[in-house]
Order: sequence, then C-alpha cells, then structure tokens
Amino acid sequence: MTGQVYWEAPSNIALVKYWGKKGLQLPCNPSVSLSLSLSKTQTSLKWVKKERTDEFSFDFFFEGEKKCLFEKKIEALLERIGPSFSFVKDYHLEFRSSNTFPHSVGIASSASSMASFALCLCSMAKALGHLDGPFYEKASFISRLGSGSACRSLYGGVASWGEFSWQEKKLGSDLFATPVSKVHEDFSEILDFILIVDSSPKAVSSTVGHSLMNGHPFLEARITQANKNMESVLDALYKGDWETFQNVVENEALTLHSLMMNSVTPFILMKPQTFLLIEKIKNFREKTGAKCCFTLDAGPNLHLLCLKSEENLVRKFVQEECKKHLENGRWIEDKMGKDGPKFEEA
Ligand code: DP6
Repeated sequence: MTGQVYWEAPSNIALVKYWGKKGLQLPCNPSVSLSLSLSKTQTSLKWVKKERTDEFSFDFFFEGEKKCLFEKKIEALLERIGPSFSFVKDYHLEFRSSNTFPHSVGIASSASSMASFALCLCSMAKALGHLDGPFYEKASFISRLGSGSACRSLYGGVASWGEFSWQEKKLGSDLFATPVSKVHEDFSEILDFILIVDSSPKAVSSTVGHSLMNGHPFLEARITQANKNMESVLDALYKGDWETFQNVVENEALTLHSLMMNSVTPFILMKPQTFLLIEKIKNFREKTGAKCCFTLDAGPNLHLLCLKSEENLVRKFVQEECKKHLENGRWIEDKMGKDGPKFEEA
C-alpha cells in the first residue's frame, strides 16, 4: 500500500516572541505572529507499506539532495509524536522539501518546514484512518513538537500560541496555535521588507537560546512583560492602533536580543549594521511619519513592517538609505499571507 501527499506551509514572523520553553516543547510565554505570503516550504510525503520494525524508516531530500542534519530533526519529531502515530512504523516514508526563499536570511525555515511535515503526516494519518480530532489543531500540535514557532504557521494571517488573557477572557493553548481573527481592516495588509544584513550561519541556535532562559535572571519579568505585550498588540490589531502596534513590536524585538545579552552565557546576534539600520528606520519615521516599524527574530536581519499605504515610501527608503548597508545590497519583499497552508494531491 502506498500513497503521497503534498503541502505548502508559510514561514512566520513573531510580533510577541516565544523565548524560553518548559516540558515537551511548551512555551514559557504566549506569542503571536504574522504568517508570510511568499516565504514557504513545499513538502511531499510518500509512504510505502513495509514490515513493522521498532525504528522509524524514512529518507529526507532537500532540494533533491539527501540531508542528514535535517533527518535528525525529523527523527526527533517522529519520536515525540508518540503512540498516536505509531502506525508510521508500518511504512517507509520519503520526505522531499524545498523552500521558496534562501537560507539564513532571517526567514524561519524550521517553522515552515516543520509545519509542512506535520501537515503531510496528518494527511497520511487521515488517508489511513488514523486521525482523531480537528485536522489543523492536530497538525499545529505536531509541528510544535518539531519546532515551537512552527505551530503558528498552520494558519494564514495572525496566529497566537500559548495561554493568554485578552478582554478579560482566558484564551489560547500551550499545546497548539490558534488563528487570531479580530484584526482591524487597516491591518489587513501588512508588508514585510526583510533587510539582509548577514546570511552566515548563526553562532547560537534558537534551541540553545531557549535553553538559556532556564535560570535566566529576568525570566519572571519576561513572562509578565510578554503577557502584557500580548494583550496590547491584540488590542492594537483589533482597534487598528498603529502606534501601540509599533511600540510593542519594537519592544519585543529589542527585549529578545537583550535577553540573549544578559543570559548566564551571554551572546549577541545583532551586527553593527543592525543598529545602524534601526537608527535609520527611527529617523525616517520621525521625518516622514510613515507607519513602519522593525522586528528581529533570533538573528541580525531586520524585518521592516509597514501598512500597504506606506509601500512606495518605504521601498524608496530601503532603496536609497538601507540598500548600501545590506549584504550584497539584498532585501526580500514579503507580506502577511491570508491563505495559510495549501494542500495538493501529489
Ligand atoms: C526568536 O521555534 O526556532 O523566532 O522550538 O527550539 O525550534 P525551537 O525554536 P524556534 O524559536 C523561535 C524563536 C523566535 C521567536 C518566535 O518565533 O516566536
């Protein structure tokens, strides 16, 4: 018995950052992100029935080549999914993936990859009659086990992960992400200019960064701050309040990097150009009043977010003032994608 499925899942950029974990891939604090439109991972999964063994049997090809490093991540994911997916041991799996964006440019490939793998595995489970519960919830749950931020890539638009309070209601779950639908029409199109400062591999991975939050001197304060920022940014998205949005998003980006700098084993991922560009963005905003702001993930590259109304002004600013400070003068233009993952019969 054999079968094949194909899924495409978006990457995402966090507004409130997931930083620090507990238990089995559970977040220390809630987070919220925008799913991107153009930056995606496309994965096909083929399964062929075999004799059952105790081991998982699979191959992983990235852009046509066998990739051993990623095989370890898939192995860890399969181990973590546990008994509800033990039927997988009756099959040999072949994953084939490619990204629509380059490596190490500030676009989280682990998020889109793990989301696409989880979707493929859930489709396989569904086809073989092993899926229980709502499909996307399950896929989000599984992708979380591969990479925390991946669980938010299951939905288009805005998605949150982790328990939080908003408008005096307790919402969200630590186990999987949920879509945020209460978004003002002014925020219906958010553009993301990804300014590439440095595309060399990171000195410290996100996974190591998360572990340094264990015993971090500011852990409790960070959890309190993230919960507060979560409420504020959801309010801002709901009301169309750009100023609050901008303040929270920039506060989160700088907090993330300051948590790295004052952890027990400190590290710095920003580069001199990161600071220079932050200054430039602030000056540009002051001068023009443009509705734009920056954020960072765990790396030196900046995401310059803006509303659609500011597109031409911001592009001109990037061309005239930022380009010369970017690696090979390179940036990527993406935007919030409303559609979310895409399924195709392979
Ligand atoms: C800074 O999801 O990459 O991008 O769960 O260990 O795979 P693992 O970590 P990962 O961490 C992402 C951290 C972040 C913030 C965020 O996306 O919320």
